Amino acid sequence: MNVLIVTESCFGNTARVARAVAAGLRSKGAEVTIAEAAAAPALDGVDLLLVGAPTHNMGLPGPASRGQAATKGGNPPATGVAEWLDRLSGFGGRAATFDTVTGTGFFSGSAAKGIQKRLRRSRVDVVARESFVVKATEGPLADGELDRAELWGAALA
Ligand SMILES: Cc1cc2nc3c(=O)[nH]c(=O)nc-3n(C[C@H](O)[C@H](O)[C@H](O)COP(=O)(O)O)c2cc1C
Repeated sequence: MNVLIVTESCFGNTARVARAVAAGLRSKGAEVTIAEAAAAPALDGVDLLLVGAPTHNMGLPGPASRGQAATKGGNPPATGVAEWLDRLSGFGGRAATFDTVTGTGFFSGSAAKGIQKRLRRSRVDVVARESFVVKATEGPLADGELDRAELWGAALA
């Protein structure tokens, strides 16, 4: 199974989750490529697409929230998952989405939920969605979250 993980990260936490999910998938024999959204390859031959981003202002990062992340010491990309989704068309495989959040309550919001909505609007079959908790805006991830990400990846395979 060929898996492509498309991500965006300002402080490195979502990127860390992506690597843990990839390790889980690889443990079950999947071929996994991780790409930053701005440099993601074409989707030819991809069986499972994973899209992950940090939650910003209850949803997907955009130019303004990336600017806010930079003022807090982050290193945001110029463009990310939202812009990549703008260009997505004709993907016929399955997909799953993930994000990082500072809390899991209703008022935390979820970038993964926004990604799921946009993928479904593009008629992509979204089979799973998961959030991983960071202790603060800049991280680190809460205890056990990287292990949980690896297990989630293995289960997806
Ligand atoms: C501008 C901005 C807005 C944020 N808004 C939210 C939010 O609405 N809900 C939430 O749970 N976390 C929020 N956060 C915290 C991020 O989720 C956290 O910085 C992120 O998960 C870290 O991931 P990264 O290291 O991949 O950037 C926000 C962070 C920034 C910089």
